[in-house]
Amino acid sequence: MPAWKHHVFVCTNTRPPGHPKGSCGERGCAQVAAAFSAALDVDDELMETVKLQTSNCLGPCRAGPTVVVYPEGVWYRGLTAADVPEIIREHFHNGRPVKRLLLEDV
Ligand code: FES
Repeated sequence: MPAWKHHVFVCTNTRPPGHPKGSCGERGCAQVAAAFSAALDVDDELMETVKLQTSNCLGPCRAGPTVVVYPEGVWYRGLTAADVPEIIREHFHNGRPVKRLLLEDV
């Protein structure tokens, strides 16, 4: 059993267009999840320490796409696929969550 250091949940919930809550699905969460998956697949170190999961609604729908990283309980909001390399490098390799992407008031 791998010793996961980080468990990453990417919301991939999609609601119909016009739904009052909106959803991460209509804001590009599939591309964010794919970017995490692709990056982790080629990173020998993180492949053993970071577990990626897609998730149903995590709660802060209007801030989507949302991602939460445990055990720290660090939340990211409004991510795009272009943000993923910085999270991989700074958070998972260097232990510093990316401040500019944090969802502060969950
Ligand atoms: S739909 Fe993604 S947090 Fe609710």
